Amino acid sequence: MEVKIVEDVKNIECDVLVINKFEKKQTDCDFVNKFLPEEFTGKNKETILINTLGQKLAKNILVVGFGEEKKLTNNTIRENTAIAIKKCGEIKAKKVAICYSTEINYGGPAVIGAKTSDYRFDKYKTKKDFHIEELYLSNVDNNLVNKAKIIANSLDLSRNLANEPAAYATPTKLAQISQNIEGIETQVYDYKKIEEMGMGAFLAVAKGSIEPPKFIHMKYVPQNPKKRIAIIGKGLCFDSGGLDLKPANSMLTMRDDMSGSAIVIGVMKAIAQLKPDVEVHGIIAACENMPGAGAYKPGDILTAMNGKTIEVDNTDAEGRLTLADALCYACNLKVDEVFDIATLTGACMVALGTVASGIMGNNEELIEKIIETGKTTGEKFWQLPMWQEYRDNMDSDIADMKNTGTRYGGASAAGMFLKEFVNDEVKWVHLDIAGTAFLEKPQGEYYSKGSTACGLKTLIKYITE
Ligand code: BES
Ligand code: MN
Ligand code: ZN
Repeated sequence: MEVKIVEDVKNIECDVLVINKFEKKQTDCDFVNKFLPEEFTGKNKETILINTLGQKLAKNILVVGFGEEKKLTNNTIRENTAIAIKKCGEIKAKKVAICYSTEINYGGPAVIGAKTSDYRFDKYKTKKDFHIEELYLSNVDNNLVNKAKIIANSLDLSRNLANEPAAYATPTKLAQISQNIEGIETQVYDYKKIEEMGMGAFLAVAKGSIEPPKFIHMKYVPQNPKKRIAIIGKGLCFDSGGLDLKPANSMLTMRDDMSGSAIVIGVMKAIAQLKPDVEVHGIIAACENMPGAGAYKPGDILTAMNGKTIEVDNTDAEGRLTLADALCYACNLKVDEVFDIATLTGACMVALGTVASGIMGNNEELIEKIIETGKTTGEKFWQLPMWQEYRDNMDSDIADMKNTGTRYGGASAAGMFLKEFVNDEVKWVHLDIAGTAFLEKPQGEYYSKGSTACGLKTLIKYITE
């Protein structure tokens, strides 16, 4: 979908012109006001399609209800635009124009809503899904539309990467993509260097696969950064469970276990174009968790980069092992804030479903900021507790800790495990996107099946605003 800004969308020929109606208020279009049935009051998310029968340049006018004017937020605009675009897709409209009330600054959320709604992963289908070809806007803030386009393109990149089969999105591929982002300097460490750096936990996970692991460090360094942050993405290109093999059904979507890293790549790409005054490090410990002949085993004792030892209780709790070394590495950079984003626990998915991501960390203020930012991007975060008892369950008789606790409270246990690898001086936030990163059926106004890249918009907004 190509987004174009024109002088006045009412002066172009198109298949559908989308306008909005607030409750208890006429629309900005006299033609629509004349023909709009009384039952259509403009309730939020309500739509009506009016055929202009050749009386207008637009073949159809789609009116979307925006609800009460005083309750309008960017979420309303983003969601309703997504609904409108879905309707346009249903009638195979190729050329769509949007013209909302002149007093609303709708460019940004309209572009995000439209592009997200139109997304399908149809790369491998010989018969492609229907896509809207052109989207016309007028009366919008150029800068905000450009920013939204950058974010939308990053969303596409991340979603594509997570949707790709594991045979395509290998650690080597992630490294290559990371090395080819304009404005980003990337270092990739191979097996030997990873070993030399002392990343015994990450390396253990990688050993069961013939795909070589890659430790990826992307850097965006502005002139005078006002702060320095690192974002770490879980990069399990495939999670079979390892020797503690997953049942077939649970393995089906495990190509999505690198969603966190796909998001980090997307965020870095957007940051390179949006150029905030913040130094940003994107870090990925990429590998596969496979039960090959070299695989790590239950009972093994691993030493992470900070010297702490871990007894392997379950080879399927591999994400936290890779993140442990990535967290040590990030803390060594002496940044002010570290974020990690990971499809970490099935337990988080059980607790919050596919609707909200889990959030934990060592700094209440930063957690709160991310939750609040999420409210404006439409990404939901729900805080889970980090109580000592969760950590007690991971005590080991033969090492500093085990990599799993009891059957219960698994998301919090994983959070407590990660905390062992974070310096107390650095503010740290952990995002568990196991439930939200990948959908088995469409959800809400704009997500199709598959990858959502949930968290990307919040991270970009937090970093750039
Ligand atoms: N990648 C999975 C978590 C996951 C589950 C993500 C479902 C998305 C959907 C993770 O590596 C895992 O296997 N976790 C185990 C941990 C357990 C062995 C302590 C889990 O959640 O079952
Ligand atoms: Mn696993
Ligand atoms: Zn995993």
